[in-house]
Amino acid sequence: MGKLRLGVLASGRGSNLQSIMDAAAAGKIKAEVAAVISDNKDAFALERARKAGIPALHVNPKNFGSKDEYERAIIKLLKDHDVQLVCLAGYMRIVGKVILDAFPNRVINIHPALLPSFPGLHGQHQAWEYGVKYSGCTVHFVDEGMDTGPIIIQAVVPVFDDDTADTLAARILEQEHIIYPEAIGLLAEGRVKLNGRKVLVK
Ligand code: GAR
Repeated sequence: MGKLRLGVLASGRGSNLQSIMDAAAAGKIKAEVAAVISDNKDAFALERARKAGIPALHVNPKNFGSKDEYERAIIKLLKDHDVQLVCLAGYMRIVGKVILDAFPNRVINIHPALLPSFPGLHGQHQAWEYGVKYSGCTVHFVDEGMDTGPIIIQAVVPVFDDDTADTLAARILEQEHIIYPEAIGLLAEGRVKLNGRKVLVK
């Protein structure tokens, strides 16, 4: 079996992208990043991809008349690069039906909170503000809702009294860098089964 070809969509710093590229380069997962696509031409994620010799593509949403047209352009690039699994890594847009229909159950995301708590933007900050004693991160399949898809892996971190939103976010990020490659590795090995909204790992 060949390596699972990943298309990573990222809008910013790209530290999760880096953890995936590193795991792939080290042979820890049977996957390779085939292309990185960003809606933001200044995303550091694109720089990281270029450094690794991976196609780094910018698609400006403003160049399209609608979200559907923009997403069709993304799909064209993903297909051109034979992408089999789409990984959102700090992609700050809601993925629409057009992409989801083109990659059914083949779009995953990392979220910096223990879903279904604190979906949406700044999950770490929301959790810290709320005063929870534990938070964490979640890798999940993407569906049409906001961070509502079936959960593949979660990691838990404690929240300490002297935490700030930033120290908590850093503790969560460390775990993101572990569980995102891990989830991709499981998918690459065909060990993930969807049963309704439950994910079974063989
Ligand atoms: C990560 O913390 C990721 O979980 C979060 O954005 C950050 C991106 O960092 N994603 C979301 O909040 C999605 N709703 P990175 O660019 O360094 O990977």
